[in-house]
Amino acid sequence: MYQISPETDADYHEVEALYDLCFAPGRTALSSYRLRDGVPPIADLCLTLRDGHQILLAAIRYWPARIGERKVLLLGPIAVHPTAQGEGLGAILMRDSLIRATERGWSRVLLVGDAPYYARFGFSRLSDVEMPPPTNPDRVLGLELRPGAWVDIRGTVTRENSGKDKAALAE
Ligand SMILES: CC(C)(COP(=O)(O)OP(=O)(O)OC[C@H]1O[C@@H](n2cnc3c(N)ncnc32)[C@H](O)[C@@H]1OP(=O)(O)O)[C@@H](O)C(=O)NCCC(=O)NCCS
Repeated sequence: MYQISPETDADYHEVEALYDLCFAPGRTALSSYRLRDGVPPIADLCLTLRDGHQILLAAIRYWPARIGERKVLLLGPIAVHPTAQGEGLGAILMRDSLIRATERGWSRVLLVGDAPYYARFGFSRLSDVEMPPPTNPDRVLGLELRPGAWVDIRGTVTRENSGKDKAALAE
């Protein structure tokens, strides 16, 4: 029996500890974290998955980003506790959060990760999209939540501007 819930302030340190456990030391030095610096995550897409004893088994977070004036949903980090990996929990969190993102009107999702894993959810390489260096271009992957949402979108992914022109961003 699993429970999926939006991450709360009370979950924050536990989720950070799960990420520290699941990723190599220095994870926050990755270039994708530069897109998250000073930008609030998208609260209703950041999810925790707990078992019947309320043990945290998996978590996923999302941030807003942009390419030029186009809005992009940055997926990650996602992690599953090492004792529960390979049981489908990552897939449950991926699918649940992507449904929520679609329902909330997001059009396109971006992530940096292993194509052999994320291809099963429909992600494919974005050859015209660049992440801040250093990022292996083969790991820059995208998914359309709305048909055609990645067509003709090219350029460098930049940090969401929480300032005045945010409302003017195009979908
Ligand atoms: C990657 C991760 C989130 C997947 O979650 P999970 O619950 O273990 O995965 P699932 O049970 O949904 O799927 C298991 C399948 O994914 C495959 N898989 C898992 N990680 C993979 C990877 N990095 N590359 C390719 N395939 C991978 C498994 O081999 C398995 O394949 P199978 O279905 O053919 O047997 C989890 O393993 C994890 O937290 N890893 C450490 C942190 C991490 O790497 N996060 C992702 C950053 S890109």
